[in-house]
Amino acid sequence: MKLLMLLSSLLWALALGEQAEEDDFQLREPLTEQEFQKEMQSGLHIVEFFSPYCPHCLEFAPHWEKAWKKFHPQGEKLNMSFVQVNCVKDGDLCAAEQILAYPAIRLYGPQGFIKNYPDDFAKTEEDLIRFARQEALDPINMEAVDIKISSELLTSQRFNELVAGKGAEPYLVSFWPTKGSDNPLDDKMYDFCEDCQSFQKTWPLLSRKMLSLGVSTGHINCETSPNICKGLGFGRLVHPDYEEGLYPRVALVLPGTGVNNLFIYENGFTSSVPPYEDFVSRTIFNSEAPEISLEEIVALVHKDFKFPEEVDTPPPAQNLHVVFSYDPENVVPEDLHVLEHLVYPLSKIPNAYLHKSSDGVPVAAKATLNYMYEKINYNRSESEKLPKTEFLELNLFPQSPTFYIFKEGDWVPHLYRGDSTTETRDVEGLGEWFNQSILPVITEVTANNFEQLLNFERLTTDAIVIQLVDLKDIQSIQESNENLNNFLIAAYDYEDVRMQNVVKVRTGERTAKNKKVKLLKAQKASSNAIGKAYHQEIAFLDYDKVILGYIDISNNDLLKELGFTGGRDAYKSGDVLVVDPLEGVFYDKDVLGNELNTNSIYALRETLVKIVLPQLSRFHEKLESQKLKYIPKGGFSIFDPLIEYRVWRYFCVVGLIVLVCKVPSFYRKFKIGKNYKAKRNTTGLLGQTSKRSKD
Ligand SMILES: *[C@@H]1O[C@H](CO)[C@@H](O)[C@H](O)[C@H]1NC(C)=O
Ligand SMILES: *[C@@H]1O[C@H](CO)[C@@H](O)[C@H](O)[C@H]1NC(C)=O
Ligand SMILES: *[C@@H]1O[C@H](CO)[C@@H](O)[C@H](O)[C@H]1NC(C)=O
Repeated sequence: MKLLMLLSSLLWALALGEQAEEDDFQLREPLTEQEFQKEMQSGLHIVEFFSPYCPHCLEFAPHWEKAWKKFHPQGEKLNMSFVQVNCVKDGDLCAAEQILAYPAIRLYGPQGFIKNYPDDFAKTEEDLIRFARQEALDPINMEAVDIKISSELLTSQRFNELVAGKGAEPYLVSFWPTKGSDNPLDDKMYDFCEDCQSFQKTWPLLSRKMLSLGVSTGHINCETSPNICKGLGFGRLVHPDYEEGLYPRVALVLPGTGVNNLFIYENGFTSSVPPYEDFVSRTIFNSEAPEISLEEIVALVHKDFKFPEEVDTPPPAQNLHVVFSYDPENVVPEDLHVLEHLVYPLSKIPNAYLHKSSDGVPVAAKATLNYMYEKINYNRSESEKLPKTEFLELNLFPQSPTFYIFKEGDWVPHLYRGDSTTETRDVEGLGEWFNQSILPVITEVTANNFEQLLNFERLTTDAIVIQLVDLKDIQSIQESNENLNNFLIAAYDYEDVRMQNVVKVRTGERTAKNKKVKLLKAQKASSNAIGKAYHQEIAFLDYDKVILGYIDISNNDLLKELGFTGGRDAYKSGDVLVVDPLEGVFYDKDVLGNELNTNSIYALRETLVKIVLPQLSRFHEKLESQKLKYIPKGGFSIFDPLIEYRVWRYFCVVGLIVLVCKVPSFYRKFKIGKNYKAKRNTTGLLGQTSKRSKD
C-alpha cells in the first residue's frame, strides 16, 4: 500500500510538474441555472450544491478549492471540471435536481446526473481527486463524454527532439503502418492489419489514461517517417503488406538525457490498456529508483498471498522489488550508474520495481527469513528449525553494494550472487538473474502458461507444486485460503530443507578444496598447481527449487486439459499435485500413501523432500506416480517429452557454465557438468538451443 502511494505520488509529482506556474488560478463563481444547463451538455462535471449558510459547506470549502486547484490541469485534458451551484440563489435548480442536504456533491455528464459522491469517500482533497480520476477514467463515463483523441501526430523532427531529451514530460508514442493516409488514427482502411483496427480503439483510451498520469501521447505514421520506424526496428511498418503478426508498436520516451530514455514495449500485441499502463508507470518509477526503507521492505514480505474473499475479484498483484543496497559513504557513481541500465530489462518484466536503499537491507533480509521460521516451526515434536543465514551470506561482501530481490509475500529474500564489485555492475548477469526470479510466490497455472512453467529454469527447478483451489463462492474461497496457508507453510518448510542442503553441499566442496590444497602442499607440488587449486572458485549452485502454483477447479475442464487424469476419480479443493517435468510424471499421493493435500503440512513437506531430494528422505518406499499426459499446443514435434527435457537440461548446464565461470577453466566446466550429471543422470546431447531465450 505504502508503495502504491509512493508510486502514485511520484506519478502525481510528474503530472503536476506543469502546474507550478499556474499560481494565478482562480475558483469560478457558482453557476447560474442557465450556465448550468449549458455546461452540463458536454464533458464531465463534479458539482457541489451548497448553501452559503451551511457550516459543513464552509468547512468543506477549502478542501474543494485545493482539490480543484490541484486537479484542474488534468481536469482540462480529461474534460472534467469542478463547478458549484449556490442553492440559496438558484433554489429552483436545486429543487429540480432534488438536492436534500448540503453540501451535495454529484457527478454529471451530458445525459445529466450520473452518481452521488460515494459515502465511503471522505470530503478531503485527496478523496475528491481520487473520485475525479476514477470517474474520468471509467470507460462508461468516457463514452458518455465522447472522448477527444489527445494524441498528437508527431513529425520525425518532433520525435527526434523528444528522444534528444527535449520533451517537458514523458511521451508514450505509437507507431503505425499506413497506405497513403495522413493520420493513422483516422485511417479507415486497415484491412491489411487487423490489430491496427483494434488498436485504433485502444489508443484513445490509453491516451486518456496517460494524461491522468501526466504522460503525453503522440503517434507516428511510419509511411511518412520511415527512417524513425526503421531505426527502432519497426521496418515492417514502413511498407506494410498483409502479413501475420503486423501490429502498431509502442514506445515510451522520458524527458532528459540519461543512458537511455527510449523504452520500447516488447511484450507483444494486446488491445487491452492495463499492460501498457503497467509498462509506463513502472518504467517511470524505475528510472527514478526511489529509496525504500527497511520497514517498507518488511511490510512487503508480510503481505502473505491470499485470495480476496469476494467472488470474481482478481488475486493481488504479486510485485517484485529489486533493491540496490548501498552504503552512501562508499558508493561510487559507477555503482549507481548501473541502475539506469536496469530500467530497460526490468520494463519487460511485469510487476517489477526498482529501488535503492541505504537503510539496512541485510537487516530486512534477515527479518524476512525470521518471519519464515516463525511460520515453519509449527510442529512442536520436531526440533526447532533455525534460519539458514549461511545460505544468505554465501559470497556476500557486505562492504560492497549489492542487489536483493524481495517478492511480495515471499518469506525468502534473494541475494544477487556477484563475486566482486565488477559483477554488481554486470548488467547482463543481473538481467539473467531477473529472468530467473520473475515468478511470483505462487502462479496461477493455466493452459497458456503450463508449458512455460514446465520449461522454467530447468537447471535449478525440479518440480511444480500445485494447490487446487475453488474460487466459485465466498465460502469456497475462505476454505481455499485456509488450505493455501498450509500449502505455503509446507512449501517453505521444504525450502528450509533445501537451503540446508545447498549450504551442506557447498561446505563439502570447500572442505574438499582445502584438503586438496593441503595434499598438494604435502606432495610438494609446484606453487603454480597449489595456487590454482587454492584459487579454485566454488560455484554457488542454488538448485532443487520448486515452483508453486494453483489451479482454480471451478474452471471445470482445466485439470483434464492439463492431463491431470487417471489418478483419483475426482480432485477437490485442497488437493495438491506435484509435477516432475523431467520424469514426465505427477504425484497425487503422499509418502504415507494418503491423498496428497494440505491436511498434513508435515506429510506434504516430506513428500516434496522425497520427490526432489530423495537422498535426504527418511521414507524408503517408492512413491506412486502418474504419467503426465499433457501435450503442448504445438506438440513436441519429433521429440519425446522426456528426451526434450533432458536435452534442455543439458543445454542449461552449458548455459550455467558460461554464467558461473566468467574465467574459462576447463577443469571447472568439467566439474560442474559432472555435478549436475551425477545429480540427475542427464543423457542425450541432441543439438537444440534453449527455448526460453527465444520467447
Ligand atoms: C469536452 O468534450 C466536449 C464534447 O466532445 C467538447 O465539446 C468540449 O470542447 C470538451 N472540452 C474540453 C475542455 O476539452
Ligand atoms: C531475459 O528474458 C527476456 C525475455 O525472455 C529476453 O529478451 C532477455 O534477453 C533475457 N535477458 C537475459 C540477460 O538473459
Ligand atoms: C510433527 O512431526 C512428526 C515427526 O517428527 C510427525 O509424525 C507429526 O505428524 C508432525 N505433526 C504435525 C502436526 O505436522
